[in-house]
Amino acid sequence: MRIRVLGSSAGGGFPQWNCNCANCTGVRQGTVIARARTQSSIAVSVDGVDWLLVNASPDILTQIRDNPELQPARAVRDSGIAAVLLMDAQIDHVTGLLMLRERQTPLPLLATPEVFSDISTGFPITGILSHYCGVAVHELGIDGRTADVPGLPGLQVQTVALSSKPPPYSPFRGNPRPGDNIGLLLQNPATGARVFYAPGLASVTPDLLDLMAGCSVVLVDGTFWTDDEMQRQGLSKKAALDMGHLPQSGPGGMIEQLDRLPPTVRKVLIHINNTNPMLVEDGPERALLTRHGIDVAHDGMDIEF
Ligand code: MLT
Ligand code: MN
Ligand code: ZN
Repeated sequence: MRIRVLGSSAGGGFPQWNCNCANCTGVRQGTVIARARTQSSIAVSVDGVDWLLVNASPDILTQIRDNPELQPARAVRDSGIAAVLLMDAQIDHVTGLLMLRERQTPLPLLATPEVFSDISTGFPITGILSHYCGVAVHELGIDGRTADVPGLPGLQVQTVALSSKPPPYSPFRGNPRPGDNIGLLLQNPATGARVFYAPGLASVTPDLLDLMAGCSVVLVDGTFWTDDEMQRQGLSKKAALDMGHLPQSGPGGMIEQLDRLPPTVRKVLIHINNTNPMLVEDGPERALLTRHGIDVAHDGMDIEF
């Protein structure tokens, strides 16, 4: 079973269109050693032909062009994207659904009832798509049961409810519900191997750490290096934790959490904000991660499990 990282950046991408932070300027001008990255999405496949798209990024058309595997061309209109699963209703994870409207059959869409409610009200994508291909709704519970993925025999998924907030346009912004934001366990039933994917993760509870310890790979929130990263650069009033993202550095941070996992678990950071200093490949932050055995995802990265 294979994961292809389509987009390893957080919302905004890297470089971000209007940002002149040190990283964005440096990557534009070629003065820092760093790779540009598109917005948050991965694809999962059993056979390398049919794929589950996990999150539909605003950059999806670029991502499909960059990953020809997603375009198998078996018919005059065709796609390797068999189904789409959403982790939350944030712009960086759902906007790409609108770009898939030319499908000739309803798009199989997996999400929690909470995410379906946000994308039919605050950001009414399913209503808009009903005038085009429409969606085939597959609700995901947060009861710990495994679910099959339509069109992808041999892959099983299990959701993990995470504490976070729905997006600013959600009618439930002020009253978060379990299911607004999920982590995902991808399971290979043939081998028992599991991957945990959580691009937005505000806290690592002991239960979650146990679950991660049983995985072969964890692909987790790499948004911010420090809690005040955006504030310090004058880019936002919000701290990382206010936005539902546990910073990597410092006491209780992601590095410390990942250090608790057994050495059998491959650790990869994903959903990286353009301000994050670990994007600089020859910088001290990247060297620290290497010493802790932690990888940084990039667009095009393949993970086998
Ligand atoms: C987030 O995960 O916090 C989002 O990427 C924010 C956004 O897209 O604006
Ligand atoms: Mn995001
Ligand atoms: Zn920037």
